[in-house]
Amino acid sequence: MSLESDLVLVFHPIAVHFAVALTCVALVLDWIAHWHPRAEWRFAGRLCFFVGVLALGVTGASGWIEHLFPRPASAFDAQIEGLLLYHEYGGYGVLGFFVILAVIRLRLAEPLPVSWLVCATIGVLGVLVQGYIGGEMVYRYGAGVRAVQVLSEQPDEKKKAPAEQSTEAGTNEK
Ligand code: HEM
Repeated sequence: MSLESDLVLVFHPIAVHFAVALTCVALVLDWIAHWHPRAEWRFAGRLCFFVGVLALGVTGASGWIEHLFPRPASAFDAQIEGLLLYHEYGGYGVLGFFVILAVIRLRLAEPLPVSWLVCATIGVLGVLVQGYIGGEMVYRYGAGVRAVQVLSEQPDEKKKAPAEQSTEAGTNEK
């Protein structure tokens, strides 16, 4: 992998932390502003929400760019591909959902209606599910982890196929 692609690949893991943190904090602040209607809470919630949507956009774009790069073969390719499908389309879905929420919010007068807050809560749950699936891909199956790719190239079957490969996804053909 070249230096350029290495640099591109760090953007998604960085951006995702901002997207998750800001959308979650925005939701908490918006609910607080709902129960304690003070200008400070409203301003903080609004700021975190819109910067969070921006971060989600960067997360989706960086994930899309990343999946265009060829990935070295891994013993867990079957599992990674399966999860990546949900992760990719789930990511576009969540991003689209938040863009719609942002457009609606721009047209709404404060205080925010409960229906919008409930939709934002569902959206944040979607972001968390996305983060969980991304974490499974990387920390369980080693997507993009160089050590896993190097070990996967070892000729020794024991090194190549850890027990998890056969028990979890049923890909063992023996
Ligand atoms: C709501 C949007 C998204 C969220 C919250 C999200 C979250 C995550 C997280 C938490 C990881 C693990 C990062 C790490 O610690 O290394 C990850 C990895 C990954 N995501 Fe996403 N993601 C999103 C959208 C997308 C999209 C649209 C794609 C396009 C295919 C994508 C592709 C990937 C890939 C290829 C990885 C594995 C390599 C890496 O760590 O960068 N993601 N994602």
